Amino acid sequence: MSETSIDSLLHEDRRFPPSPEFAAAAVAKPELYDEARADRLEFWADRARELHWHRPFTETLDWSNPPFARWFADGELNVAYNCLDRHVLAGNGDRVAIHWEGEPGDTRTLTYAELTREVKRAANMLAALGVSRGDRVVIYLPVIPEAVIAMLAVARLGAIHSVIFGGFSAESIRARVEDADASLVITADGGWRKGRVFPLKQAVDSALAAAESSVERVLVVRRGDNEVEWTEGRDLWWHEQLEGVSDAHEAEGFEAENPLFILYTSGTTGKPKGILHTSGGYLTQAAFTHKNVFDLKPETDVYWCTADVGWITGHSYVVYGPLANGATQVLYEGTPDTPHPGRWWELIEKYQVSIFYTAPTAIRSFMKLGREIPQSFNLSSLRVLGSVGEPINPEAWVWYREIIGGGLTPIVDTWWQTETGAIMISALPGITVAKPGSAQVPIPGISVDVLDEASVHVGKEAGGLLVITEPWPSMLRGIWGDPDRFRDTYWSKFADAPNGPLYFAGDGAHLDADGDVQLLGRVDDVMNVSGHRLSTMEIESALVSHPIVAEAAVVGASDDTTGQAVVAFVILRAKKAASVTATEASTLLRQHVTEQIGAIARPREIFVVAELPKTRSGKIMRRLLQDIAEGREIGDTTTLTDVNVVQSIRGTLD
Ligand code: WTA
Repeated sequence: MSETSIDSLLHEDRRFPPSPEFAAAAVAKPELYDEARADRLEFWADRARELHWHRPFTETLDWSNPPFARWFADGELNVAYNCLDRHVLAGNGDRVAIHWEGEPGDTRTLTYAELTREVKRAANMLAALGVSRGDRVVIYLPVIPEAVIAMLAVARLGAIHSVIFGGFSAESIRARVEDADASLVITADGGWRKGRVFPLKQAVDSALAAAESSVERVLVVRRGDNEVEWTEGRDLWWHEQLEGVSDAHEAEGFEAENPLFILYTSGTTGKPKGILHTSGGYLTQAAFTHKNVFDLKPETDVYWCTADVGWITGHSYVVYGPLANGATQVLYEGTPDTPHPGRWWELIEKYQVSIFYTAPTAIRSFMKLGREIPQSFNLSSLRVLGSVGEPINPEAWVWYREIIGGGLTPIVDTWWQTETGAIMISALPGITVAKPGSAQVPIPGISVDVLDEASVHVGKEAGGLLVITEPWPSMLRGIWGDPDRFRDTYWSKFADAPNGPLYFAGDGAHLDADGDVQLLGRVDDVMNVSGHRLSTMEIESALVSHPIVAEAAVVGASDDTTGQAVVAFVILRAKKAASVTATEASTLLRQHVTEQIGAIARPREIFVVAELPKTRSGKIMRRLLQDIAEGREIGDTTTLTDVNVVQSIRGTLD
């Protein structure tokens, strides 16, 4: 976040109290906070008991071996049963679970009864292919119903899914398939994006050709109708395998700590981390937050979260939270501007969406296009709006409320992470007096603090580092295959607190005069581009893996629409790069990053430079490069080995 926006945040004094009508009918009651304060563990145990347990738990939290938490550990449940069968058995089988809309305009509606049947069949099919408890299944699909069906079918068998966002490259798939040692991949021929079919299976084919992998089967959903290559004996059509498969499948109970999924996310090193989530605690917090933060009334609401299922937001707030709560939701395959820039608003009008959850970057791009576009649709069905992924600046917050919410809707700015599994800091609609640009208060049952480097609470009207002070049900249980990295990354910075180590989130935060939390963005080498997490180191390693690059430095420069943008500085190898111009090198390298990681990581700009500014200990001074990329005056450079470097980089930019 830029200094100007922090400044405007600190002077933001508009307040939006809930309307008395909204408050009277709200799902969340103020007593939730009292209950959680009185007995935090009992509060979570009560929330967990709202799920269906094959075997009830007797112990809520085991924190005897921090930072490895165990929640509800002697209980058994089936996550898919909770999202499906339970609603059908309660008589809600005819309720729509998913209103799916493909980008070309084709649609599919699935009731809870139909979705349950589809998942049961898919579970039988996967079991017949040898998938069982604990196996890893990689899912690389567009946002189509089969993505949800596949995730739930894997969960139903007690196996572990690892969903990879469809924008990631073959190389990223290879690394994830290998790291998770997956036995099966579920993909599609292609999916629709921006009016065209983009191939998916092709990326899986190249990934598996390069992988030292244990993948025996690739199941292919037909979606794009594009041509695909076929490896006999390995590749199978999803629809063919489902033919004649029974829709009877009894869900078995698995321990609450049975792993549910691995989701890879960027950290501060070159290698993505496989964040591991388990079953009972995860589902408890995903369901509780989805219901209370969005004021969900499952009988009447139509909910829409625009996230791709390949991100944590898609896991918790497209799949597990909403389905555990029996919600009716919209699922949309494509981009917001295809075939016209009002597509999202058209969908809200068409399906009478009442709860809408999206990212600030989307809101800012709509702001740029002008209010006339949303105003030409009837958005009066909306009653709660949510934001996630990055700090939302007060201007975008107010625009969102005024233009999309008709000046009436509460907005919940929800702070959380892949690692936290579910929402941690957010207003509750009907209770909290909202402040633009502020996530405000931890949800009931969650304890956070803002500390300085010496582990001291910063007090009101001061900034510091955000920590989570007590274990929470949906917390990550580790990094797949790397317990040391788990400890080092999250638990070592504030390891000596009296009640056990504190979780360091990697975010900076400010406490306002009321003690409310305002998020200020990452304090480590993680960037946030359009709400997507990217690692500077990962992109740097991608750049230096190209033969013409000798050295690279990447920074996140602030960007009006995407929050941050990737800007790279590279030093070329004199011999290898002799015949390429700086412009050619930049084109070549942007393409190379796309192949190595995916288009989301492609730098907005690449500057070819002669040297990079470093500290005396040899660390690249990213702050300084960020100043340069954002066109700011350069501050103190006394630790630079060669001050002239900065001048020459400046020279390249001018
Ligand atoms: C940032 C996305 C400010 C933050 C759910 C965090 C936010 C990272 C907010 C996690 C918010 C997410 N306000 N910043 N409401 N929500 N962030 O893992 O920097 O993709 O650490 O999870 O996004 O990104 P992730």
